[in-house]
Amino acid sequence: MPALFDSYTLKDVTLRNRIAVGPMCQYMAQDGVPNDWHDVHYASLARGGAGLVTMEATAVSPEGRITPGCLGLWNDTQAAAFAPIVAAMRKAGAVPGIQIAHAGRKASANVPWEGDDHIPATDPRGWQTIAPSAIAFGENLPREPQAMTLDDIARVKADYVRAAERARDLGFGWLMLHFAHGYLAQSFWSTHSNQRTDSYGGSTENRGRFLLETLAAVRAVWPENRPLSVRFGVIEFDGRDEETLVESIDLVRKMKAGGLDFIDVSIGFSTPAATIPWGPAFMAPYAHRVRQEADIPVSTSWYISEGRQADALIRNNILDIATLARPFLANPHWPLEASRALRAKNTETLLPPPYGWWLARYQ
Ligand SMILES: Cc1cc2nc3c(=O)[nH]c(=O)nc-3n(C[C@H](O)[C@H](O)[C@H](O)COP(=O)(O)O)c2cc1C
Repeated sequence: MPALFDSYTLKDVTLRNRIAVGPMCQYMAQDGVPNDWHDVHYASLARGGAGLVTMEATAVSPEGRITPGCLGLWNDTQAAAFAPIVAAMRKAGAVPGIQIAHAGRKASANVPWEGDDHIPATDPRGWQTIAPSAIAFGENLPREPQAMTLDDIARVKADYVRAAERARDLGFGWLMLHFAHGYLAQSFWSTHSNQRTDSYGGSTENRGRFLLETLAAVRAVWPENRPLSVRFGVIEFDGRDEETLVESIDLVRKMKAGGLDFIDVSIGFSTPAATIPWGPAFMAPYAHRVRQEADIPVSTSWYISEGRQADALIRNNILDIATLARPFLANPHWPLEASRALRAKNTETLLPPPYGWWLARYQ
């Protein structure tokens, strides 16, 4: 029976435990380039003891950023600035992961603490968004995207491939494709955002095409011995839940056949009209169902915050890895807190010696 602090091996990559820090946008970049904020932030998270630290949604092209402050990986200047972060995370014993993303119709927004809404079309800080269909998300994101041409689709897939190559060359150990949260890939999958009448819209086969093609193109350049994962919204909480779940799980099976190694199960966020049943670990049963029915290792996040809770999800074979995000903002040393609660044996080695040596002796 695996436990939270047991190691986890997938392909040739071993995580020192089954705790992952989920991707979290910092909105602190300029022109997509990481800076001292990211250096300190990611080194701290890695030093905190998690097995996997996945860097935030990193855009594959300028128009794919959620906000002007989002990271990007479409040029060499950006890649060079990622290198010391990858090195620091490895030195701290974490496997460095990265989420590559295109924000689709949710792009061109103000950072959360400056409104979290679309930048007005007249403001030169913003840009024209693209999506499968010219349908706005609504509410705080009213800007109408341009419906993508087949050339646009081919270009974005190529952008994903190029970003994956840069991530590969930087030595990231774990790649996550952002196929969730109402961003571009999710919006191809969802009928809330995809009303196309060509081969990328309509049937589940057509709506899944962009995701499967992008996955296959990335798999072709991402090393076979390193895990390739997606974060995918399998449910919208829009009243069509069982139907969406069944369709989504079928797509996950196809992704697995196309080279997917791991899935982080999440929410679609394709419509502001969703009613989401927030609560402790509320996505875990859905993740477990995907694990069972698609026969693929899974994680999920969303209100997993206690060590005992995370450990139980692993011990009961609900999840293969527990992903936490906000708890790590509150406490980058969350694994230490969890190991104390669980009376795990590895407190001393969990944190680097300048911290861990003392904390193991004097509690
Ligand atoms: C500040 C912040 C930024 C986030 N950025 C991303 C992101 O870049 N990509 C993503 O897939 N999810 C993102 N999320 C969602 C988290 O990864 C996570 O799924 C969510 O916060 C639920 O986990 P938690 O309850 O442990 O915080 C973000 C969440 C927060 C709080």
